[in-house]
Amino acid sequence: MTNFLSLADVSDLDALIQSGRDAKASPFANQHLGKNKTIGLIFFNSSLRTRLSTQKAAQNLGLNVMTMNVGQDSWGLEMEEGVFMNGDKAEHVREAAAVIGRYCDIIGIRAFAELKDREKDYKEQVMHQFAKYANVPIVNLESATRHPLQSLADCITIEEAKAQSGIKRPKVVLTWLPHFKPLPQAVANSFSEWMNARANSGDVDFVITHPEGYELAPEFVGNAKVIYNQDEAFEGADFIYGKNWSSYTQYGQVLTQDPSWAVTMDDIRRSNNGKFMHCLPVRRNLKVADEVLDSPHSLVIEQAANREWSAQAVLKEILQGM
Ligand code: CP
Repeated sequence: MTNFLSLADVSDLDALIQSGRDAKASPFANQHLGKNKTIGLIFFNSSLRTRLSTQKAAQNLGLNVMTMNVGQDSWGLEMEEGVFMNGDKAEHVREAAAVIGRYCDIIGIRAFAELKDREKDYKEQVMHQFAKYANVPIVNLESATRHPLQSLADCITIEEAKAQSGIKRPKVVLTWLPHFKPLPQAVANSFSEWMNARANSGDVDFVITHPEGYELAPEFVGNAKVIYNQDEAFEGADFIYGKNWSSYTQYGQVLTQDPSWAVTMDDIRRSNNGKFMHCLPVRRNLKVADEVLDSPHSLVIEQAANREWSAQAVLKEILQGM
């Protein structure tokens, strides 16, 4: 593995999931891999889990870690080529990425969608500019359209729960949740991309449910069954994965805040004794009821804990390829 920008960079998904589970069982087994090497974690946006779990995973592998918040700790970065730089961005990514690439052996980057221009967001300019100019492997810490480290942690979490329940091919339902703010599609896109791969290999059945107008981009929906009636979608569900996203078709807009789409214990009862998943952070009771989050049905803490192991599996594979 050179870069880890999306599922397309994964050659063997089963092996990567197993590598994460192995890291969880034996966190320090590969400490030699990162010795005398450095990872830079570059954040254009806020983070709790991604920042701490990736740092911890890197340390488990013996890597030195440097973290920087762009625009707060550093100069604002210009991404466009050929611009006359008389705006508020003091440094161009050409120099910034090249310089960070001299200090670091791997660079992780978080850069969310701006939700103003769909074409621009879906071009993944920040990731591609860093990949072009840094000259070292780039890890996606959540980009405009994807959050692959989260999706890998989600796969690990589902496999662990499958092993406990004995259900060989669970029904996994991605549901839109209400929110008053426009949020990116990245987590939902990425989860769909990875679950479609798991469905293709016979490991899950995958269903997406959302109100009309919240259709994800076709390349992410893939072969998933889309059901507009949430109650119907939840029937027989083994996993309910909740996430809010803004509209892709009416780009970046909040079309409804219908509270009936929030997940409650009635929804869990409608499912097959289902488990609730969410990448966090989650706004309690706006998106999911306290009684769900505080019940044994919730996997959200385990999911967040597994972020350490998903990051470790990816960093290990990158280090092994150096
Ligand atoms: N799930 C996730 O990426 O959390 P943070 O935004 O806190 O990193």
